[in-house]
Amino acid sequence: MAQRRFAQALYTLALLAAGAGVCVGQGAGPRPCEPQAPLGPSHDLYCIDLIAAPGARAASGRVELSPPAGPFTVGVTSDGHSRYDLIGSVAGLEPGRTYVAWLMTPQLDTIIKLGVVTRGSFVARDVALPKFVVLITAERSSRVQSPSEHLVLRGQSPSTRLFPPDQLTFAAGGSTATPAHEHEGHGDWPMVPMPANLTMLPAEMALRPGVAPYPRPSSDSLAIARPSEWRRLRNGDTLWLDAGVVRGGFAFNGEQPGPMLEVSRGSEIVVGFTNHLPDSTAIHWHGIRLDNRSDGAPGLTQPAIAPGGTFTYHIRFPDAGIYWYHAHVREDIQQDFGLYGNILVRSADSVLPPAHREEVLMLDDVLVGDQGPIPAGRESPTHALMGRFGNVFVVNAKRDYQLAVARGEVVRFYLTNAANARTLNLSFAGARMQLVAADAGAYATPRAVASVVIAPAERYVVNVTFDRPGRFALVNRVQALDHIFGRFFPEVDTLGVVTVSNGRAPAVAAASSRRPSPPFHLAALDSLARRPPDKTLILTLHTTNLPPVTERLMQLDSIFFQPVEWSGSMPMMNWAATGEQVRWILRDPETGRENMDIDWHFARGSTVKLRLVNERRAFHGMQHPIHLHGQRFLVLAVNGVPMRDLAWKDTVLVPAGSTVDILFDTTNPGHWMLHCHIAEHLSAGMMTHLTVD
Ligand code: C2O
Ligand code: CU
Repeated sequence: MAQRRFAQALYTLALLAAGAGVCVGQGAGPRPCEPQAPLGPSHDLYCIDLIAAPGARAASGRVELSPPAGPFTVGVTSDGHSRYDLIGSVAGLEPGRTYVAWLMTPQLDTIIKLGVVTRGSFVARDVALPKFVVLITAERSSRVQSPSEHLVLRGQSPSTRLFPPDQLTFAAGGSTATPAHEHEGHGDWPMVPMPANLTMLPAEMALRPGVAPYPRPSSDSLAIARPSEWRRLRNGDTLWLDAGVVRGGFAFNGEQPGPMLEVSRGSEIVVGFTNHLPDSTAIHWHGIRLDNRSDGAPGLTQPAIAPGGTFTYHIRFPDAGIYWYHAHVREDIQQDFGLYGNILVRSADSVLPPAHREEVLMLDDVLVGDQGPIPAGRESPTHALMGRFGNVFVVNAKRDYQLAVARGEVVRFYLTNAANARTLNLSFAGARMQLVAADAGAYATPRAVASVVIAPAERYVVNVTFDRPGRFALVNRVQALDHIFGRFFPEVDTLGVVTVSNGRAPAVAAASSRRPSPPFHLAALDSLARRPPDKTLILTLHTTNLPPVTERLMQLDSIFFQPVEWSGSMPMMNWAATGEQVRWILRDPETGRENMDIDWHFARGSTVKLRLVNERRAFHGMQHPIHLHGQRFLVLAVNGVPMRDLAWKDTVLVPAGSTVDILFDTTNPGHWMLHCHIAEHLSAGMMTHLTVD
């Protein structure tokens, strides 16, 4: 008890410090502008080396592209542009003059004054230009509004390295032609849809996956899936659940999503499961700190359940929050075909800010061509490079989500991203959004957010206030990358619409005076943040036998990686790369072991700090949503910058070329998987396991 109060006091201190803008936990791992550490964040993606202008030879400097304060591991505006804090440090400046830092677009059509360089440094918060140039000039006064001709230092954002002529010369060279035998693929593949605005090469257009298609079941004799039914389960209740075939996919109890389960914290239920699929399966209860035997990890906690087989899961719910369950065999097929459902665990003493109503939204995207859904790969996944991005957005397995509310209503949305690969940047244009909880717990301080960045398997809870009458679209707004021309272009997808009527809603119930308990009870987060990691994992990949066009274009493309690949803008090369050519890897740098060969053991009750290093030099660098089964964790730092908005999570998005530190307490004994939740990466090997003894 005393220990708990002590920890609470420390936590409160940390919050106060964060609120006052004091940097807690400085020294939380290497930063991108520090001398490049092999297991640190990428220097060339997150640090600009400034170059001296003629006559200023002694000057030098660097600008860190730092993740801005906020609850997400990546900074992005609501319309999808990367956001950074620019942290500049310069040296070798001649004394006696005023130095000013400026930001410009590469075309020089926008010039922004960042500020005066004071004692060799400057900080500019929330810079969101897709490509930019930083200038340092010598000025007579700090009040100048445009730069003088006395240029001292300059540098360019890493995104300006995308340089179309290179790629076009290469593409025109003819050496990318794909030998005939390579693009025949295997079986009868329908054509994948092409996103608008994309440039494609002929050699790319000829690619097909080298595996047989695994189509969605489509027979007219199959039942159509029913919408999810809300099931309130009491302590000791049994739920009979089956996985079966419906028209156009798979379903739990014939429902898509599967039954929506509502339970109380501290309760326990029994799930009697039967497999009516044509393939083996197992069901995982994502994020729940349950008994290891019921975790549903085939090969680790149970054998896969053969067609016609049964399994009994005993599930206890120690933590309030929004969770989900899904098939854990070939997620790129089974989860994609519809085997997922939500679990809402309530506690009597909820600390969430009040709302008029609640909506549980399971978000997904499906890939549909001219002749219907594009099949999955039979022997191994297609889309093994970037993961499978869909072009049809569904909410609770349906298109065009609709909700009608009265003016002034506050709606609490429980959001789950069930997509195979797509990270969403969600907003309700024109409505106020407050982020109140993450995967497995509430934030101590709810925060206004312009958008919610939600990666596959993550959950977020937002309170949205609809103050004005009208129509408010739930949109995913991102900047996609045209890899051939090296330019960003906006993509906007509408997932649903909320219609707000003129009638006024009654005032919302008063907020509860309860505060969320501190999310970590072990010791001061500050010293934990400084502590070197106990374990490190490198996120990378290995490829073999890719078609020459893919091999070469991707090598050129590696000059720059976006922090998050928001869109499937290499649709053909990605589609045609299968799990037979691409192996995604989690590597322990201490032992060199990879994926399931890693054999970590931790004593129960210890605190483990794990550093995830997303390798910059990988053949294709991209974000990975990393999920740890059976435990919960805090995200401590991104690229060495401490996170200040803390809530319990079980899945964290690791941006390309970045490091993310997480801290978990090993409370739950057993064998637990840790893996990437991009379905195709998981099916292409990106998983490991650890044991809590
Ligand atoms: Cu939701 Cu092992 O996954
Ligand atoms: Cu991944």
